[in-house]
Amino acid sequence: MSTPEPVLRCSGVKKRFGATRALDPFDLELRRGTLLALLGPSGCGKTTALRVIAGFERPSAGEVWVGPRQVAGGASWVPPEKRSIGMVFQDWALFPHLDVARNVAFGLGRGREERVDEVLSMVHLTGLEHRFPHELSGGQQQRVALARALAPSPEVILLDEPFSNLDATLRASVRAEVRHVLKEAGATAIFVTHDQEEALSMADELAVMVAGRVVQVGAPHEVYGMPTDTRVAALVGEANFFKGVVREQIAITPLGDMPAPGLSDGPIEVMVRPESVRLARADDSPATIVEAEFYGHDQLVRAVLADGTSVEARLLGPRPELSIGSAVRATIAGGVHFFRDGRPVLAPAGERRPVH
Ligand SMILES: Nc1ncnc2c1ncn2[C@@H]1O[C@H](COP(=O)(O)OP(=O)(O)O)[C@@H](O)[C@H]1O
Ligand SMILES: [Mg+2]
Repeated sequence: MSTPEPVLRCSGVKKRFGATRALDPFDLELRRGTLLALLGPSGCGKTTALRVIAGFERPSAGEVWVGPRQVAGGASWVPPEKRSIGMVFQDWALFPHLDVARNVAFGLGRGREERVDEVLSMVHLTGLEHRFPHELSGGQQQRVALARALAPSPEVILLDEPFSNLDATLRASVRAEVRHVLKEAGATAIFVTHDQEEALSMADELAVMVAGRVVQVGAPHEVYGMPTDTRVAALVGEANFFKGVVREQIAITPLGDMPAPGLSDGPIEVMVRPESVRLARADDSPATIVEAEFYGHDQLVRAVLADGTSVEARLLGPRPELSIGSAVRATIAGGVHFFRDGRPVLAPAGERRPVH
């Protein structure tokens, strides 16, 4: 079976601003109907990537393709309005002097009132056609921006940090709704975020970007479970990192000795997710809980071992015996990742083993 042609393809795209290499190079393929999260720290080039795809910036090198059509690179140049790309800007960029219906109709040809009604219904704004942006809540304004992007039925929709202007209580419900609307519309979309929880919970596919390039793409659970780079491990979810050394296929780490079959002698970096660390009360232990963040459904606690090593553990349910000051024993239950030069060197190992 041949894989269908991607709806969007960026290949070797570079973008410089003076001495800054904003995209260095950027490669990405997007399949039809996919909602892809582009996750990366502030300043890594996410907005630049969207602007190059949309046609607001010219790449310094490389190619951008929308379906079978090259839109940038070499001698090709297709202007933004002809690329079949819809954009939802970070600040939504609604026209303040136009009502909802006319904001959405912008970019549609004449006689497309039906389509305005259709997309307003999709984003649950029917009845608010004649309100002006300042008469709407933040969540409603955002849905107008989404409706305006969806109206011409573009091949791809790009959303730049679409939830950053919403307060925290609104954000979770709005993002679920935006995902629902995009899925119902069968849209192919990229949304940019620096919030890993948002990326993991909303995306079909997750692309992690560091310093101008995509370093890993995959389903959220794959990227989380098998990070191909320590930077990805640190950006996606919480991670404990420990420095160790391998001697005769044993990794000696602050968490104890671990089998490291096939690994040559030398320094090693070990990563363990907090949910793979188990803590039990042990009054004779020199390790102590020093911090706890309570989230209701779970909590993240930090223990300090006798040698000063810090270990974060996720605890499910109420654990009154484990509070700040409690002496504990830590064990590792699966998910030990070994890295060298930032790259994984062994598949994650899984047995339960004592730490100290
Ligand atoms: N128009 C511009 N002129 C000069 N530098 C820019 C411009 N746009 C972006 N940059 C720089 O490019 C880098 C990437 O920026 P940006 O794409 O906005 O990152 P992000 O959206 O991931 O925060 C940053 O160092 C930023 O300062
Ligand atoms: Mg940005």
